[in-house]
Amino acid sequence: MSPKNAPSLKPVDQLTLTEARAEHDDLGREIAEHDRRYYEEDAPTVSDAEYDALRKRYEALEGMFPELKTTESLTQKVGSRASEKFAKVRHRVPMLSLANGFADEEVEEFVERIRRFLQWKADAPLVFTAEPKIDGLSLSIRYEKGRLVTAATRGDGAEGEDVTNNARTVGDIPHALKGSNIPDVFEVRGEVYLSHKDFAAINERQEAAGKPLFANPRNAAAGSLRQLDPKITASRPLCFFAYAWGEVSEMPASTQYGMMEALRGFGFKVNPLTRRCSSVAEMLEHYHAIETDRANLGYDIDGVVYKVDDLGLQQRLGFVSRSPRWALAHKFPAQKAVTVLEGIEINVGRTGSLNPIARLRPVTVGGVVVSNATLHNEDYIKGIGGNGEKIRGGVDIRIGDTVIINRAGDVIPKVLDVVLEKRPADARPYEFPTQCPACGSHAVREVNPRTGKEDAVRRCTGGLICPAQARERLKHFVSRNAFDIEGMGEQRIDEFYEEGLVQRPQDIFTLAERNARSLKRLENREGWGETSVRNLFAAIEARRSISLNRLIFALGIPHVGETSARLLARHFGTFEALREAARAAADPDSEAHAELTSIGGIGPVVAEAIIEFFKEGHNEEMLDALLAQVTAEPMEAPATVSSPVAGKTVVFTGSLEQMTREEAKAMAERLGAKVAGSVSKKTDLVVAGPGAGSKLAKAAELGVQVMDEDGWFALVGRG
Ligand code: IVH
Repeated sequence: MSPKNAPSLKPVDQLTLTEARAEHDDLGREIAEHDRRYYEEDAPTVSDAEYDALRKRYEALEGMFPELKTTESLTQKVGSRASEKFAKVRHRVPMLSLANGFADEEVEEFVERIRRFLQWKADAPLVFTAEPKIDGLSLSIRYEKGRLVTAATRGDGAEGEDVTNNARTVGDIPHALKGSNIPDVFEVRGEVYLSHKDFAAINERQEAAGKPLFANPRNAAAGSLRQLDPKITASRPLCFFAYAWGEVSEMPASTQYGMMEALRGFGFKVNPLTRRCSSVAEMLEHYHAIETDRANLGYDIDGVVYKVDDLGLQQRLGFVSRSPRWALAHKFPAQKAVTVLEGIEINVGRTGSLNPIARLRPVTVGGVVVSNATLHNEDYIKGIGGNGEKIRGGVDIRIGDTVIINRAGDVIPKVLDVVLEKRPADARPYEFPTQCPACGSHAVREVNPRTGKEDAVRRCTGGLICPAQARERLKHFVSRNAFDIEGMGEQRIDEFYEEGLVQRPQDIFTLAERNARSLKRLENREGWGETSVRNLFAAIEARRSISLNRLIFALGIPHVGETSARLLARHFGTFEALREAARAAADPDSEAHAELTSIGGIGPVVAEAIIEFFKEGHNEEMLDALLAQVTAEPMEAPATVSSPVAGKTVVFTGSLEQMTREEAKAMAERLGAKVAGSVSKKTDLVVAGPGAGSKLAKAAELGVQVMDEDGWFALVGRG
């Protein structure tokens, strides 16, 4: 049966059970085959809408004849969720995030930081734009020869979801750019959002249809844009403000403000509250004006974004980690609420940290129901801050207390304060466990060798014998930004872990083989079936080759997040090079140690954590076993960077006169070079300013090329 025949099918209520069973069997096979093509071959042969029609009919048959709904039914299995998927789109220019600030002083510091970076005097004119930070979801829309070709969500910044058909239904998004001088390639970026009025109307309709309500306009906008059926998206009146761009073949302006005007000319809405400001005072004035007007705007905003106006300066300033140095999101203060702390639970993290979680009487904060909040750590509960100082005037937090909590945007809600007058007479100080609630091992607070201070975090000493750590590690390992194994969600990991099927990362990759030999095969179990097992194994197989940065991130080395993982991948190029360097760096006097600690963005704490990780025998064993199963794709210097210094190791020394040390480093990194702090055999180039001493001598001794700043600019240009 093909979906094209679907309309001629008899309505389900006119079928006999025998007819229904036959159709259900046929349909099941057909859907399973589409799942296989989708998951295993990445080559679906039907559109999402056709696939959905098949599933709908399949479900309708089960609705009418419940006896068809056996454990073998596709509706009872996970993994066959092809209809919940969008194709992926790789962003040609990554979609970045913004650094945040809350206090007015942080704006001042932001501007000062920029002046310092540029080595500008305090009175040199510096212009910023200031505009509302829209609380929606960002979208990148690509126009080629003026025509909309793709639209993608932000995703992880490098890769998003293809929502082109849905974006076309948004009224504010032109299908063709207006005006003349339209660049051949123009990627417009901005925010998709819903007005308060439309949000309320959507929730009314949801309620009338007995469907769950959206918590806030942002969730509703995201839910509406990420619909598989563009008709649903079209029925939700989404709006769009343009505020940025990705790849552009010819820039229509040389300032941020000019770009906003160009965007308006091309047919986009840009926020009418965008201003140019030439001092911190003007920026703050505009911020407070927007804050005052916030409730009257008719849509949610969560702060004000400042951007350096001159695009040449933006280019010079570049990025730190994943945010531009030239922009700041000045967020509005968090919203607060008062509720009761009903209990404290300890959650064991993947690095063994005992994390106290507040269980709260549910309360609404900024439109979202909050029932959990973080209590940070043992000292925080006691009323002691990071430097041993008192917080909350030294008041501890007790179960039964009335507490003040806050929530700011995506930030995890926090317990901020205690209303002491409301403390029940029988409330007792909370005793933080000294044993791991998951494995019973001792939980200790380590003393930092560098500072001699006790760590704020109490950690389980059980290591891999601690099921909570092992499980959390596995969950992290398969998570979206790590191995991203479809069908291996948190629940599956729990199940597999308990049964002893998957207890270490490497076990994932031997699961299929062990299953084939097993007497208790997965496909014969309740809740599973051949298709879901096949899909899972296909998803695992697809990850036998993995990008180096994902592999490093997946290992769950304390302090090594996605950004550090990417930096390490880029610096070392292969997993073996990283592993060798980390082993050698165990000697603090080694060249490898100096190299590891001089990688831009890798601080001493991260470096130590890496060294510790590779020192640990269990980890070495795990890595050997894992690398027998998976290959890490070597990472090359980013393909877009072709410069005379790409892939080279550069050392800057002496006092630089035309750029600050920070700027020099950022520039070299932008050009694909590695910047090291000391000269070694691996150094390709030393850029020396006046007063360069021992490093210059070392360079001469090793025969490393040396040049001055003029030589550097002659080599790489001023870009
Ligand atoms: S500029 C390179 N401007 O905030 C920086 N972002 O926290 C590009 N956002 O992912 C972003 N309003 O979704 C910019 N006026 C605005 C914005 C804005 C909202 C969002 C955007 C971004 C997030 C970063």
